[in-house]
Amino acid sequence: MKKYGVNELRQMFLDFMESKGHLVMKSFSLVPQGDKSLLLINAGMAPLKPYFTGAEIPPRTRVSTCQKCIRTGDIENVGKTARHGTFFEMLGNFSFGDYFKKEAIHWSWEFLTEVVGLDANRLYPSVYLEDDEAFDIWNKEIGIPADRIFRFGKEDNFWEHGAGPCGPCSEIYYDRGEKYDPEGLGEKLFFEEMENDRYIEVWNVVFSQYDCNPAIDRKEYKELPQKNIDTGKGLERLVSIIQGGETNFDTDLFLPIIHATEKLANVSYEENKMAYRVIADHIRTVTFALADGAMFDNAGRGYVLRRILRRAVRYGKQIGIEKAFMYDLVPLVCDMMKDFYDYLPEKQDFISTMVKKEEE
Ligand code: SER
Repeated sequence: MKKYGVNELRQMFLDFMESKGHLVMKSFSLVPQGDKSLLLINAGMAPLKPYFTGAEIPPRTRVSTCQKCIRTGDIENVGKTARHGTFFEMLGNFSFGDYFKKEAIHWSWEFLTEVVGLDANRLYPSVYLEDDEAFDIWNKEIGIPADRIFRFGKEDNFWEHGAGPCGPCSEIYYDRGEKYDPEGLGEKLFFEEMENDRYIEVWNVVFSQYDCNPAIDRKEYKELPQKNIDTGKGLERLVSIIQGGETNFDTDLFLPIIHATEKLANVSYEENKMAYRVIADHIRTVTFALADGAMFDNAGRGYVLRRILRRAVRYGKQIGIEKAFMYDLVPLVCDMMKDFYDYLPEKQDFISTMVKKEEE
């Protein structure tokens, strides 16, 4: 397997989806526009909700994006596991009443095995309990043996996040090998932990056919007028698999930030990986959020960002950094990401100033 860099991989995905008739759109802002159910954009599909529900007409019925996302629900896991982060880029392809399960599954397989070159024997799909249609596509059309396709319930194979389009999903897991399975549980890990550092979920293909209305004490699922596809693949996870990093952080997406932080600290990355990983993750989150117009505050979105920055500063103290330092990493983050996010350099001084003020 060739060790592609992050910029290459991102582009390979978008080019692939373009070749399948998708309109490649730029990432939307992290600050939700006209969606009161979210403080920050948390999935590739989130800014596209009106296209799924039919409230707005999409520029094309097939769209693909690399969407900036922030999720803080798992913040305590950042740095502990190989795969959690609060900021991530989600590669996605979307169908608004156009193609459905068959194409979505076939293309995900084609991209992972033929374009990227992942070993098919290390990939495991899962489907929603009753979804025989998805099971049969994996089994009969793609040729995955039945005992390597897992069926899981609503908890794992039904995707919904707040209000809006949702539905059963099919996930693809990549087996990183025994090295990440100290107890030698093998496939049993799926049933014991579901998500773990050996079998990493690399792609979630959601069959968005319902609209979820979270009422106060019960949820309502209404059939959407059209059947849709919403897929999401975390770029950081894919990069870490392809570059063979022990974690997402041991890749060209994070290591330069970690090395720059080492120069400011008196404890090395080897000695306190967790602290370095938290700092590298959180500075990306804050930089991207501020670049999109969010600001530190005592409530709402701004409070989320304030907590994230403070958390990073606390970890800075663990590695011997006593003075403000996060602001100093902002130009590096902007420089590393500017090829795809070309607006970052012009915002970097402003972001740096705001971060320094907040740190102090
Ligand atoms: N909405 C799904 C997710 O975020 C697939 O894009 O995982």
